[in-house]
Amino acid sequence: MKDYKRYLVTSALPYANGPVHIGHLAGVYVPSDIYVRYLRLRGRDVIWVCGSDEHGVPITIKARNEGVTPQDVVDKYNDIIKRSFEGLGISFDIYSRTTSREHYRTASEFFRTLHDKGVFSEAVSQQYYDEEAQTFLADRYIMGTCPHCQNDRAYGDQCEKCGSTLNPTDLVEPRSMISGSKPVMKETKHWYLPLDKYEPKLREWILEEHKEWKPNVYGQCKSWLDLGLQPRAVSRDLNWGIPVPVEGAEGKVLYVWFDAPIGYISATKELTPDWEKYWKSEDTKMVHFIGKDNIVFHCIVFPTMLMAHGDYILPDNVPSNEFLNLEGDKISTSRNWAVWLNEYLEEMPGKEDVLRYVLCANAPETKDNDFTWKDYQARNNNELVAVLGNFVNRALVLTGKYFEGKVPECGELNDYDKEILGQLPEIKASLERNIENYHFREALKDAMNIARLGNKYLADTEPWKLAKTDMERVKTILNVALQITANLSIAIEPFMPFSAAKILNMLGCEKFGWDAIGSTDLLPAGHTLGKAELLFEKIEDSVIEKQLQKLADAKAANAAAEVKAEPQKDEVSFDDFGKMDIRVSTILAAEKVAKTKKLLKLTVDTGIDKREIVSGIAEHYSPEELVGRQVLVLVNLAPRELKGILSRGMILMAADATGKLVLLSPEMAVKSGSVVG
Ligand code: MF3
Ligand code: ZN
Repeated sequence: MKDYKRYLVTSALPYANGPVHIGHLAGVYVPSDIYVRYLRLRGRDVIWVCGSDEHGVPITIKARNEGVTPQDVVDKYNDIIKRSFEGLGISFDIYSRTTSREHYRTASEFFRTLHDKGVFSEAVSQQYYDEEAQTFLADRYIMGTCPHCQNDRAYGDQCEKCGSTLNPTDLVEPRSMISGSKPVMKETKHWYLPLDKYEPKLREWILEEHKEWKPNVYGQCKSWLDLGLQPRAVSRDLNWGIPVPVEGAEGKVLYVWFDAPIGYISATKELTPDWEKYWKSEDTKMVHFIGKDNIVFHCIVFPTMLMAHGDYILPDNVPSNEFLNLEGDKISTSRNWAVWLNEYLEEMPGKEDVLRYVLCANAPETKDNDFTWKDYQARNNNELVAVLGNFVNRALVLTGKYFEGKVPECGELNDYDKEILGQLPEIKASLERNIENYHFREALKDAMNIARLGNKYLADTEPWKLAKTDMERVKTILNVALQITANLSIAIEPFMPFSAAKILNMLGCEKFGWDAIGSTDLLPAGHTLGKAELLFEKIEDSVIEKQLQKLADAKAANAAAEVKAEPQKDEVSFDDFGKMDIRVSTILAAEKVAKTKKLLKLTVDTGIDKREIVSGIAEHYSPEELVGRQVLVLVNLAPRELKGILSRGMILMAADATGKLVLLSPEMAVKSGSVVG
């Protein structure tokens, strides 16, 4: 183990083309916040940088679709993301953005340095060009027919219908999404980072020197390296990004994955004039927190850039999580299948720590995991309320009751007291080991074990019973319980900072340092406690149902958007159409048909007669809703018997893509029997 003097922690820069969701939080931001808060509590020299990733093609597409500029898009989402992170207590030292001036300067300089050192190779290739719009086309800007599944809306890099990865040249009948015209092939020059030349160094550095990296990270690197690395283009033909800072590069920008990780450096520069100490000395421990789709960029591409530059250190570790699913399905921004942080904070005020707790307890550390609202509710009610909240509340309320809110004197500790308190240093050691090895779920269990210990202590010693007979003993017990509470406030701070602050408030004291964990004299006798308040409250079913309904709505909207209109039926003659006799009719009565789910028996006034019609709309309308309504009825349809009822005619309805049925009514009331045609 290296002896490091300071820490530089980075978290993947989120794309500023949408808000942050629980998948991002569980994978990257909650774990890194825990890590950094822990280091700060230990008094380590640590800085933590992040910011918005504001370049790249998806942002330009979003802007085009919304009729605004890319700058408008990133301004909007940078603001939303930054504020929602703050709302959840994600405590970056700086949250910058890759459109900042410092970043432009830093990224350009970086490219120039590599260029001047002769690191890049240059190559000319053929690429699709839109002659009408006079611009090269990024893969995402070309649409055409997928050669595998014939989907005619496949993109130049991927068919979203069958999931195939594509090259733009694979598309049948490609068309430009900008002008709609047929693109032509045109030569273009790009700069390439020769990953292949760095392969031996990378092999040594990762496969030999970093066997301790998480198996998923190490494994992905190994398979990339075993496949053999290729030079990678670091420029693009695009008008959104940082211009390639060399001659003859008009209209070209840095590839977003080249500029974004340099954003970590730019942000550090913006944070402190001392930035070089963090980036350029071997006794800095650099740690990149990322999601698993970022592994190759942080373990292979960015390190190659840093090596090629020469002045910079490499990361000591790249803890990367797997993905979090939501209610059994992959989180998807485009399908709106997500819990968005900004919405959560608005809809669940005061429940920041609940989300932090659930996302850490359920973090996808070793495999993909599932977030469900039921689990969220259960963890809140059974763990946060019943274990953590309950213990703190009892310790404080009992002290209030017996000792007027003042810490009682601690008498002589008996063996049981000592056994309980003796576990605190063990828990501390385990917490440290787990956090330093990026096992945050286990670490959270350690922290919660302090609350469990406290509950067990109170349950075993029963001070409320002793209060009648042995007040001296009660003093000691509550002193011990309060010392455990103070310990707890420290241990949970990295995970649940809002609750930690509340506990300190209730205890009426300032924040303790990490090394105070294990101490049994954090609160002196006679110290006056603050006011007791509830740490967590039970979450009712109705709250959870509301969230589930929101997801169900998103699913229905997706289904509706995906289903195409039915193809047109065969042609009919005017005479054929004229044979149908459609009349405005008024519903006089409606009742459910016994033993069926879908059928209603309707009595209608067709203007010609009063008759019964059986209709399959029971799942869409209640009988009460229908009585008195005017509808359209095909009255000369041959009668049929349904469930023993003779049905004479058909109520006309529109069916939407999800199968929802809607009645058709005249725009204003007309006489029953009016002819439709
Ligand atoms: N924006 C990328 C993503 O969300 C992450 C960029 S990380 C950086 O996947 F290192 F490039 F900044
Ligand atoms: Zn396809």
